Amino acid sequence: MKHLISTKQFTDTKKLEEIFRLADKYSQGDTFKVLEHKIIACIFYEPSTRTRLSFETAALRLGAQVISTENASLFSSAAKGETLEDTIKIISGYADAIVLRHYQKGASKLASVVSSVPIINAGDGAGEHPTQAMLDLYTIKKELRRINKLKIGLVGDLLNGRTIHSLINLLSVCDSNILYLVSPEELKLPPSCKEILNNKKIKFVEEINLTKILNKVDVLYMTRVQKERFKNIEEYEKVKDVYCLDRKAVQYMKKKSIIMHPLPRTNEISTDVDGNERAAYFRQAKNGLFIRMAVLDLLLN
Ligand code: NCD
Repeated sequence: MKHLISTKQFTDTKKLEEIFRLADKYSQGDTFKVLEHKIIACIFYEPSTRTRLSFETAALRLGAQVISTENASLFSSAAKGETLEDTIKIISGYADAIVLRHYQKGASKLASVVSSVPIINAGDGAGEHPTQAMLDLYTIKKELRRINKLKIGLVGDLLNGRTIHSLINLLSVCDSNILYLVSPEELKLPPSCKEILNNKKIKFVEEINLTKILNKVDVLYMTRVQKERFKNIEEYEKVKDVYCLDRKAVQYMKKKSIIMHPLPRTNEISTDVDGNERAAYFRQAKNGLFIRMAVLDLLLN
């Protein structure tokens, strides 16, 4: 694997388990200098808190150095009309790997064609977000001790949520899970993702009503309605608060279940859930650091 563009690159769980083992090692907290003398470029054309800062932290923890542009649309030569391809050609002459977030689906793939160093897709529009899905699956494994024979509810903006699209690919290589796809009609999972589930014979049920699945699932994965992908603000307003998980709703969930969210949240999970033992989303965000350390190590060494 030279680049990490899509979770479709994982055709079984073997490589994922290897990455999880490495992430476990990095979570023990010692310092590791496996990327000493390397330079990692973080090029972000869209806002980010967790992804960029955890990638930068991961690089620094491994002894690498970081160059970055956090608002590349405005502060890189993109503002002067430079193409993404030209920008990437230049940066791949400076850095040993490029972590790229872009507003256009397919941007990372495009970048990988012209880059002489590994490209890591940190989100390409409504496309994919592979390292998020890897840390999601890693979190499920850590919290529930397995990644199969689970009932998993994916809730919210399944149409535009790139974390969902990447997670669907990973769940399609796991065994015997049942997926509950909860969304309003307008935000249903794209047909291409459903096709992947069908091809891999993964059982799934589409549902509009969140309350119907609360007592069934082992994992409840909430997502934000992706405001930035809507062409029309009224359309967004109609669906933005469609699901809100509060303390009362959580009472209906299984005792040993977990609540996840890639974050940032808007109104999908009320803060009165944060103290509940099922709330795994802050632990999930922290796991991102260890997964990204493992990914950088594997791609660069
Ligand atoms: C997600 C993203 O950017 O796709 N955030 C993240 O990286 N954790 C989810 C989102 O923005 O809703």
